[in-house]
Amino acid sequence: MPPPVKLAIIGGGPSAFYVASRLLSLLPLKDPMSPPLRVHMYDRLWAPHGLVRYGVAPDHPEVKNCTNKFDATATDPRFRFFGNVNIGSTPLHSIPRALHLPLTSILNNYSHLLFATGCTMPTLHPAIPPSVYCIPALSLVHWYTQHPSQPPPPALDKITHLTLIGQGNVSLDIARILLTSPSVLRQYDVPEHVLEVLSRSTVKHVSIVGRRGPLEAAFTTKELREMINLPEASMVPIEPTLLTPPSGVALTRQQRRTLELLQKGSKNRPGSTPKSWSLHFYRSPASLTLPSSASALDMANLTLAHTHLDPATHRAVPTGETSTLPTSLVVTSLGFHADPETTFFDPALRHLRSSAGRITSSDGSALKNMYASGWAANGAKGVLASTMIDAYAVAGTILSDIAPSSEAVTTAAPPPPETEMAPDELLNRRPDLDALPSEIVHGIKDGMVTQYDDWKVIDAEEVRRGGALGKERERMGWDEALSFIALSRARP
Ligand SMILES: Cc1cc2nc3c(=O)[nH]c(=O)nc-3n(C[C@H](O)[C@H](O)[C@H](O)COP(=O)(O)OP(=O)(O)OC[C@H]3O[C@@H](n4cnc5c(N)ncnc54)[C@H](O)[C@@H]3O)c2cc1C
Ligand SMILES: NC(=O)c1ccc[n+]([C@@H]2O[C@H](COP(=O)([O-])OP(=O)(O)OC[C@H]3O[C@@H](n4cnc5c(N)ncnc54)[C@H](OP(=O)(O)O)[C@@H]3O)[C@@H](O)[C@H]2O)c1
Repeated sequence: MPPPVKLAIIGGGPSAFYVASRLLSLLPLKDPMSPPLRVHMYDRLWAPHGLVRYGVAPDHPEVKNCTNKFDATATDPRFRFFGNVNIGSTPLHSIPRALHLPLTSILNNYSHLLFATGCTMPTLHPAIPPSVYCIPALSLVHWYTQHPSQPPPPALDKITHLTLIGQGNVSLDIARILLTSPSVLRQYDVPEHVLEVLSRSTVKHVSIVGRRGPLEAAFTTKELREMINLPEASMVPIEPTLLTPPSGVALTRQQRRTLELLQKGSKNRPGSTPKSWSLHFYRSPASLTLPSSASALDMANLTLAHTHLDPATHRAVPTGETSTLPTSLVVTSLGFHADPETTFFDPALRHLRSSAGRITSSDGSALKNMYASGWAANGAKGVLASTMIDAYAVAGTILSDIAPSSEAVTTAAPPPPETEMAPDELLNRRPDLDALPSEIVHGIKDGMVTQYDDWKVIDAEEVRRGGALGKERERMGWDEALSFIALSRARP
């Protein structure tokens, strides 16, 4: 039988769960050929599921069905989840009161390690740093999902015009939430305090700015169609010349559909709705001039550099022209990168250094028994389906190392020749399979570390509270969850 395997996973998002579920199902508990296996998952947030809980837009409830699979994974007796545990040297200011566990504690206690830490930092624009008039999209997403970092609510009752920079799906998520009536949103997983702010919103127009053209827009057609069909908002028609593809260019299906949708325009006639939105192509932010007084009605002036597409590189190149867009609030939605404090972060890639699922050292050699998956390994691109496919491949790679003779080893990347592996072994070869780092033992005793059973108690209570309000769920913050868990643990 292969030697025992004790795998620590840092991160409790979809990638982490998909790797865990794949490994546990391919190495059945009762199979005498399976190595003794433990999978311990750590997340700095007290609740599991990463961006599925703290990212996916509330009006897309079906996307969250993947959590049923994650729940099933968590019932495997070899699996444990520890929430509210920040691993490594990441500054803790963003997650108040998370327990800190140095990476060395993980290295000393585990034989294998997977980084599934995602890309948790928003990409900022150098020309328009964060200010009262410019915030990253992530702080709005964290606000409406009640993320433990607790960003302040946006002053939506003091603004009329909001500009999103970036034309990806996160931009469209935010635009949709701001342009949808709270009476529609209230059936979903939107906290009451968020609905309250949305119901006082005076936002009338959302501009969505992209540095390239409609054919290069990062949003997908499903999300564009939802914008076009918004019942209470209309799209400002787009200059037809911008929607005429250059002759001789073969369009992809997605590009064809995007052009068709944009040419058709929104379901509501322009000007017929209380709210509106517009797409601005070939515009890149150059500067933001703040108003001289901080009166609520004063707008900032966003200077936009006009651009065109370099036909060779497909990059946006400034034409030299500029224009000004008065706006109450700029929201930058330019994608995400991994936390630079994470071990093995590569500044050039802006995510962790890895190859075919294996963490690599700076000289490119694979580190023994260390892996990376999901956005941590590949950068902030792709949806849950692609995250799952990547996670299954990484599980295959891990499997090829821990049970090379297993029949399940079919999709794995071939193990690198031994000579390519970095010689130093950072992990523990023979850890006690059921022992936990002492900090975690104390954290569980003090009630500061959550486990999956605790989460299921909160999950059921959130759904119950939501049901009483006629909605999908009503979320709890950490303080409330902490007391509720303590009470439920105290019950006989
Ligand atoms: C706003 C937003 C909306 C999205 N909506 C959709 C959608 O509708 N449909 C869709 O298919 N895809 C959507 N996606 C994409 C999808 O969420 C990602 O493909 C997926 O979440 C990536 O999974 P992951 O596990 O790699 O990262 P994440 O989901 O980010 O999980 C990483 C986890 O690691 C934890 N972590 C990080 N560092 C540490 C540390 N040091 N110690 C402990 N824990 C740590 C984080 O707290 C987090 O929980 C969306 C993405 C965003 C940003
Ligand atoms: N409903 C869904 O399925 C859903 C919802 C949310 C997120 N997601 C997925 O999550 C991933 C991340 O989404 P995202 O919207 O954050 O990122 P994204 O898809 O990468 O879009 C980022 C946008 O920002 C622009 N941008 C980046 N840097 C810029 C700069 N310096 N100046 C001007 N513009 C800049 C990009 O333009 P360029 O193209 O010119 O670089 C692009 O328009 C995507 O794969 C997305 O599909 C999916």
